[in-house]
Amino acid sequence: MQRATWGSKLGFILASAGSAVGLGCIWKFPYVTASNGGGAFLLVFLAFAFTLGLALMKLELALGRAGRAGIVGTFKQLGGKHWRWVGIPTVLGCLIIMMFYGVVGGWTIAHIKMTLFGELSTTNTAKLSSAFSEFIKQPVTPIIYHGLFLALTLGVVIGGVQQGIERLSKLLMPLLFILMLLLIVRGVTLPGGWKGVEFMFNPDFSKLTIDGVINAMGLAFFSLSLGMGVMITYGSYIDEHTHIPGTAMWIVGLAVMACLLGGLMVLPPVFAFDMNPGQGPGLTFISMPAVFAHMPGGVLFGTAFFTLLLVAALTSSVSLLEVAVSYFVDELKWSRRMASIVPSVLMLIGGIPASLSFGPWSDVKLFNMTIFDLMDYLTSNIMLPLGGVVTALFGGWVAWKTVEKQLAHGNQLPAFAMQTIRFTVSWVAPVVISVVLLKGL
Ligand code: PFF
Repeated sequence: MQRATWGSKLGFILASAGSAVGLGCIWKFPYVTASNGGGAFLLVFLAFAFTLGLALMKLELALGRAGRAGIVGTFKQLGGKHWRWVGIPTVLGCLIIMMFYGVVGGWTIAHIKMTLFGELSTTNTAKLSSAFSEFIKQPVTPIIYHGLFLALTLGVVIGGVQQGIERLSKLLMPLLFILMLLLIVRGVTLPGGWKGVEFMFNPDFSKLTIDGVINAMGLAFFSLSLGMGVMITYGSYIDEHTHIPGTAMWIVGLAVMACLLGGLMVLPPVFAFDMNPGQGPGLTFISMPAVFAHMPGGVLFGTAFFTLLLVAALTSSVSLLEVAVSYFVDELKWSRRMASIVPSVLMLIGGIPASLSFGPWSDVKLFNMTIFDLMDYLTSNIMLPLGGVVTALFGGWVAWKTVEKQLAHGNQLPAFAMQTIRFTVSWVAPVVISVVLLKGL
């Protein structure tokens, strides 16, 4: 049977950008950049995104189109049966990511409601900050919202309406970008707001630590959806004529742009209102309501912002759940319904300690991290980069001939460009990632 392909090149780019652009760019990028000192961290992030990130994006898309399957099917087909073991860590990684991603997705839903009902309509940032911490501290309500976010994700995956949500995101993603631009203008023109821009773009290398480098690498993997086979799965739907290197550049470019816009939107108000930039995961949720309160029609803009953020989060969470679903369907021959429900239930259960780690379990620490931070660290900074190493080694050493053919479809690459990609995936990516990981240990 012929595998379905994307209706158009633009459709494909937007759908894959939909997986990449999500909470990672708008919620995570600003606070991780702020906690790691700003400008210098940003440069390292950009370096990872446009070197290893871009090469791995090309590789994952090429492998997917050659294998015409998800990560396990593709590895098995191109490398032999024993490669099926890569499925287990990727499924596990996606499950753990969704445990904390779903909690933040839940915060987004709660913020739609709170903004709509004017509960956050105050310019008093101390009040906004305590409203946020009061909310996340609760033992039950945030978990209910987390469940709601997972139910929405599950609904899309079980209903088989990915096509629908991708069409929706084609419409809503540009709207999110436009709204972000508008909010950036408001934030930057606040008295003192420009300091946020300077903080983001003025590199101060004395603030860069080895932890910062690991975080920058992890953030690049996370915000580009790399290392978990998501882009392999998406690549399996690209038609034969699409030029993969150009497409990969578009996806990386769009995701990085979303991150930069996210930073430019969240950080200026943090400085204008004298908030603590290093306060962690609450940054976007505290600084944005302060901006809405400083603009006419703030309730409308605020509600629209959190709604668009929710859609962006859903297009990413759907791609994560899909990795688990296709594994259970293809490898264990489960029905699609069961293969969607079982991981969702696990994600729900695993999200409970993640959510409680902001409240009753805030003292529970492992390796000096809360459960939420540990899940994030383990996946973004260890599992995704390791997934990247395995994919790079596979593409560079086991399946290079196939990858080379895929990369040349649609438009022959100059020999030098091809050699650079090969060298990057065979040597640079495995060595650099391993060195950074080992240094971190
Ligand atoms: N890239 C998504 C975001 O920035 O929100 C999150 C994500 C999706 C991470 C898929 C990893 C992944 F495999």
